[in-house]
Amino acid sequence: MAKRTIEDVAVKGKRVLMRVDFNVPLDDAGKITDDRRIQMALPSIRSVIDRGGRLILMSHLGRPKGNGFEAKFSLKVVAEKLSGILSREVGFASSAIGEAAAAEVDKLDNGGVVVLENLRFHPGEKKGDPAFGKDLASLAEIYCNDAFGTCHRTDASMVACPQAMGDKPKVVGFLVAKEIKYLSEAIANPPRPFVALLGGAKVSDKIEVIRNLLTVCDQILIGGAMAYTFSLAQGGSVGNSLVEPNKVDLAKELLAAGGDKLVLPVDTHCGDDFSSDCNKQIVEAGHIPEGFEGFDIGPKTAAAFADIISRAKTVVWNGPMGVFEMPPFDSGTRQVAQAIAQSSAISIIGGGDSAAAIGQFGLADKVSHVSTGGGASLAMLEGKPFKAVDLLDDK
Ligand code: 3PG
Repeated sequence: MAKRTIEDVAVKGKRVLMRVDFNVPLDDAGKITDDRRIQMALPSIRSVIDRGGRLILMSHLGRPKGNGFEAKFSLKVVAEKLSGILSREVGFASSAIGEAAAAEVDKLDNGGVVVLENLRFHPGEKKGDPAFGKDLASLAEIYCNDAFGTCHRTDASMVACPQAMGDKPKVVGFLVAKEIKYLSEAIANPPRPFVALLGGAKVSDKIEVIRNLLTVCDQILIGGAMAYTFSLAQGGSVGNSLVEPNKVDLAKELLAAGGDKLVLPVDTHCGDDFSSDCNKQIVEAGHIPEGFEGFDIGPKTAAAFADIISRAKTVVWNGPMGVFEMPPFDSGTRQVAQAIAQSSAISIIGGGDSAAAIGQFGLADKVSHVSTGGGASLAMLEGKPFKAVDLLDDK
């Protein structure tokens, strides 16, 4: 059922506690290298402050130990970035709960914004501790979840906190609503043919995605290193390629279950060293010589995948076809990305490496949706329920 959204609640003069996913990448100097997750939360942020709400933003950043402050995981840098983006003052509370948080929240005027320090500095956050959730909930009159990238987690700010809000409004933000629309609803009722393109290193990461998508997709195209485990399962030679020998039986099972729906590479671009200037060969899939390892799908496979994509009406892509960071082994990933960008299908890029790849090729604005969630988008493609969303108010 559709969830009540932030625009469905009157926020003027009210304290709104919004869980966002500001888990942004930082360089060694602690500078934000990609602010997409902040940008994607702006519609919900603006909806509250433009209507005179008092906005309290909370998030995690990285994976601190959970025993208190660690400078490299402080959200202060994010508060400063947000202040620049909004061209207005943004407060910062040095703790997510207690006096420091309450004092900053008390200072908020209508339309004001404060960012709380990293939730994961508190042991209760990862443990889903109800007492920590209650402390957070006590800060506000309205709860909003716009943290799609964290929706597969049951951390206290995602579950115990909204539970502790009781009868107060608990809504989704625009980003969560949009991600659910694409990753769940579009997939539940897809225009056909519906094609999934799955890559990445490990079959084990994608087992449940493959199982779930086999029930709804017309075809699943497999690339990336996980194709070599499937190749092994078919009796092929994989040279030194990255494989999961203990997943070969599972790959056999998926091949049997998938039948014609599972489309594997017909050729492989391999090299004798993990570098751009190694010795290279293009070989038939399953014929990778000793001393060589697969780094990309071959040109025949890329053309075949691009052809299938061009005839699809819905495409979901998760995981690169090869080592897209290292030319010339970016070629397969680039060609499928171009095919997706050129097609008029509903195209959904499932976060993580495929989102990075489509960004690297400058094609992100040519697809219907690039998810902000890595693990969360995978969990959604697996068809898993999200407790953090289910417990929010229905429309
Ligand atoms: C992510 O980057 O996938 C989310 O922010 C969740 O982070 P986590 O895997 O550390 O829970």
